[in-house]
Amino acid sequence: MKVVVIQGPNLNMLGVRERHIYGPMKLEEIHQQMKNFAEQNGIEIEFFQSNLEGEIIDRIQECLGDADGIIINPAAYSHTSIAIRDAIAAVEIPTIEVHLSNIHAREEFRKKSITAEVCAGVITGVGPFGYHLAMIAIMQIMNEIKAIKEAEKQKK
Ligand code: DQA
Repeated sequence: MKVVVIQGPNLNMLGVRERHIYGPMKLEEIHQQMKNFAEQNGIEIEFFQSNLEGEIIDRIQECLGDADGIIINPAAYSHTSIAIRDAIAAVEIPTIEVHLSNIHAREEFRKKSITAEVCAGVITGVGPFGYHLAMIAIMQIMNEIKAIKEAEKQKK
């Protein structure tokens, strides 16, 4: 099973950027924790960060036929990018959206995520632990898909 983690704009500045909102952890530290958890659970994992909308779309498209699950924090693009939303919908890969902060407890313009609407689930407001929860959620979804496929096979 392979999971691709996609991080949107300004998340490369975690640890420096608005620490009162996003906390002290650097992106590499979050990824290291995810990598450890993935290894313990036999999951292949890849990480990608970009500040560019088109690059994020390209990376989502590359997941087709390659990844079993996507964990994405589209950052500010969550609130603006129909193109990223369309890419998530197009690949039809179970996707969990993560936000470090609670987007519902912030400015009005952050309360709506147009990308979240095409995701299997959203985790918001629990800091870096949200990425850990997203991994558990993806594993759960994968297990459910596997069980459904096996049940279908037995029917034949
Ligand atoms: C964020 C929330 C977004 O509103 C913001 O633009 C970000 C980070 C979060 O993880 O809390 O860059 O996605």
